[in-house]
Amino acid sequence: MSTIYRILTKDEFPQALEIRIRVFVEEQNVPIGEEQDRYDQTAVHFGAFAQDTMIGTGRVVIEGKKGKCGRIAVLKSHRGQGIGMGLLQTMIEWCRAQGLTEVYLGAQLHAIPFYEKAGFTAEGGVFDDAGIPHRLMRKQLK
Ligand code: COA
Repeated sequence: MSTIYRILTKDEFPQALEIRIRVFVEEQNVPIGEEQDRYDQTAVHFGAFAQDTMIGTGRVVIEGKKGKCGRIAVLKSHRGQGIGMGLLQTMIEWCRAQGLTEVYLGAQLHAIPFYEKAGFTAEGGVFDDAGIPHRLMRKQLK
């Protein structure tokens, strides 16, 4: 069965949050108070679906001509099957269709090779976000 990637409706956001809590809070020990932030209100949220069940999520926050990708998470049981990449590509293509010139994100160090495969380049030093080391990564959209 093929995976469907699409923008979420407002009503579907709680399901996305559930995935984020499972992955970031329960698996990676991010404090629950830091997992949700004010950007969730204005962000465009995306989901990956297998047979109507949401198995991955991510969000884009638009800042001028740039799109900040974040909160990208695939349920552990569904990793390593191309779903994270499908989700990320959907988010990137959506940003391109909006006329944005760049996408960027804060990458957990372990995920840098994943983002490099989608054309992002790491720059600058390591910084802390919610107790996890990250690096800035950018991709220009032509
Ligand atoms: N380290 C190195 N390479 C990785 C990787 C990792 N952590 N995760 C994926 N890749 C590679 C895969 O090997 C694959 O390469 P290939 O095309 O040559 O086979 C490619 O990236 C695509 O992988 P995919 O199967 O689409 O990734 P996924 O569905 O497992 O999702 C994450 C990747 C990072 C979203 C997923 O591991 C996850 O949810 N992790 C926990 C949350 C997290 O850390 N999110 C990132 C926050 S910055």
